[in-house]
Amino acid sequence: MTHAEAAERAAFLSAELHRHNRLYYVEARPVISDKEFDGLLRELQEIEAQFPDLLTPDSPTQRVGGAALEGFTQITHSVRMMSLDNTYSEEELTAFFARVQKGLGREQVECVIEPKVDGVAISVRYEDGVLKHGVTRGDGTTGDDVTNNLKTIKTLPLRLPKDGPQTFEVRGEVFMPKAGFAKLNQEREEAGESLFANPRNSTAGTLKLLDPKIVAKRPLDIVFYGLADASGLPIESQNDVRKLLEAAGLPKSNLLWHADSAEGLLKAIRELDEQRKALPYETDGAVIKVNAFTDQSELGVTSKAPRWAIAYKYQPEQAETKILAVDIQVGRTGALTPVARLEPVFVSGSTVSNATLHNFEEIERKDIRVGDRVIIEKAGEIIPAVVSVKTEKRDGSEQPIVPPTHCPVCGTGVHRDEEQVVIRCPNPKCPEVVKRRIEHFVSRAAMDISGLGESVVAQLVDLRLVGDVADLYALNELLLARLERVGTKSIDNYLKAIEASKQQDPWRLVFGLGILHVGAGGARKLLEHFGGIDALAKASVEELMQCPDIGEIVAVSIHAWFRDELNIQLLDRLRAAGLNFVQKAVEAASDKLAGTTWVITGTLSQERETIADTIRSHGGKVSGSVSGKTTYLLAGADAGSKLDKATKLGVKVVSEAEFRTMIG
Ligand code: IVH
Repeated sequence: MTHAEAAERAAFLSAELHRHNRLYYVEARPVISDKEFDGLLRELQEIEAQFPDLLTPDSPTQRVGGAALEGFTQITHSVRMMSLDNTYSEEELTAFFARVQKGLGREQVECVIEPKVDGVAISVRYEDGVLKHGVTRGDGTTGDDVTNNLKTIKTLPLRLPKDGPQTFEVRGEVFMPKAGFAKLNQEREEAGESLFANPRNSTAGTLKLLDPKIVAKRPLDIVFYGLADASGLPIESQNDVRKLLEAAGLPKSNLLWHADSAEGLLKAIRELDEQRKALPYETDGAVIKVNAFTDQSELGVTSKAPRWAIAYKYQPEQAETKILAVDIQVGRTGALTPVARLEPVFVSGSTVSNATLHNFEEIERKDIRVGDRVIIEKAGEIIPAVVSVKTEKRDGSEQPIVPPTHCPVCGTGVHRDEEQVVIRCPNPKCPEVVKRRIEHFVSRAAMDISGLGESVVAQLVDLRLVGDVADLYALNELLLARLERVGTKSIDNYLKAIEASKQQDPWRLVFGLGILHVGAGGARKLLEHFGGIDALAKASVEELMQCPDIGEIVAVSIHAWFRDELNIQLLDRLRAAGLNFVQKAVEAASDKLAGTTWVITGTLSQERETIADTIRSHGGKVSGSVSGKTTYLLAGADAGSKLDKATKLGVKVVSEAEFRTMIG
């Protein structure tokens, strides 16, 4: 291929890929298959590899992240990024509207009301139809250039449709969808990593990452709601801004109200409060804006916020209660987490009797004591937390909470991590750590040894029948007979389940071992790559990093785990017990599902992973989230948001019975 031919072909492929991206992610009506799309993308990658000068920053190949940065460049905003004044009551909102009426000297003023998305503010500039940059608010004047991270957001076009506006700067909010946030935290928990407190923190933390390849794995999304600059374009109101977003194919909120009176505003914020729970992102309020730009400029701005807009914040539900005690939970990694036991109190639809205190630094900062009356808060996805202490209600009997110097269970001296926030019990034989590890090992997501619930595991450890996961395979009827309230039938079932687990795929074993930073997905990738545990155990850090999705931190952790003397012995005993160390290729059962992509939801007769394996064995693909690329949604009982989304996108929904008929 000559350079000229390559340039022509690359331009064609690039335009096609941009078009298909938009059809898929923005309009949810793909016209080609995943495979065809990947084929076009690969062809473009090959051309760009051969002719590097043809690689442009807006190439569709640049989504998954280029090289990691040393730090972010600062960019000065073309128009200052202000924030909003907040109101917390309907009276304050009515007063805002009265100020607007007075300022404009008339009764009727048209306003728009939208959800206030709880994420991170961003300013995005397009020039000549190409994404130029995306910048965080920073101090309002200058922010961080996070363009490379934003490019990983699939709903954000890198290039705009030719028939729409080409040069402008818009403002929006980057967020992490509730479902993606829950999944990310679950994976972090499984991998023994610290949890994000809420979707906004995880969004902010993700945008600050310097390596776009890691960002690409986090489920960020974006919505736009405002304009910074559109010189030359005929935009005269918030309504026009929405039209601009529409014409440019940029994502915006579906919910919008118009009102021209105080009553209208109140009605809108009440309706929004009802509907926001169903939104895919967290919202903490409503934003009310005067619609016409002429009115906006007449009202002007203060030093900090515009006079033509206001945020109405919904109260997260709070309640007052008493801290009865503070217990220390010992996690699988030995992390000691303080948990407040509360006088039960009803808040946000459920009774709360525990609240996380996160860590001891937080306790000190808020000066929380046992016996204190406290305000607790619960909102959306957020775990109940203690927000403040009613110090005025103290009577002197309250007891300060002292960070432990020794593990409350085994008495070993604690370790603090580098930032001194997490306190850990370093004793691998600590009975609580052992219990958590075994619970994880036998869990459905790992070795799936059914029946061995928390209370049985606790007894096994307390009776010293089991000191690590390999001891499970030395159990017999005689030993199990020592368990309390466990009959012969159950004993028989436990032994069968333990025996059956020897045949589990080795990725489940690797996941079950609880190596720091290795979740179920990572374990799968590792075994697919290395084929067996022995090869994995021998791999160098560099070799581990050759495996897709395994970065340096994870590789170092895996490498160290397999070189620890205790772990080497543990593996030897597991091998001697007859556990399966070699990854079987999924046996092809048929190609009845070839070319189809499935999403599984709801309660089904088998574990999801098992059903996923069945789908794969019949040639189908399995994905975690519903999109335009989904062929079928396999929905069991109590299917929730995925079912709604599938219905909305017109994805065919099948029951388990229909699925079984399809595969014969
Ligand atoms: S309009 C002059 N609309 O909330 C600022 N902001 O607390 C105009 N936000 O900085 C902002 N959803 O980061 C606007 N629908 C929405 C919003 C929204 C979330 C954020 C934004 C803003 C902050 C103010």
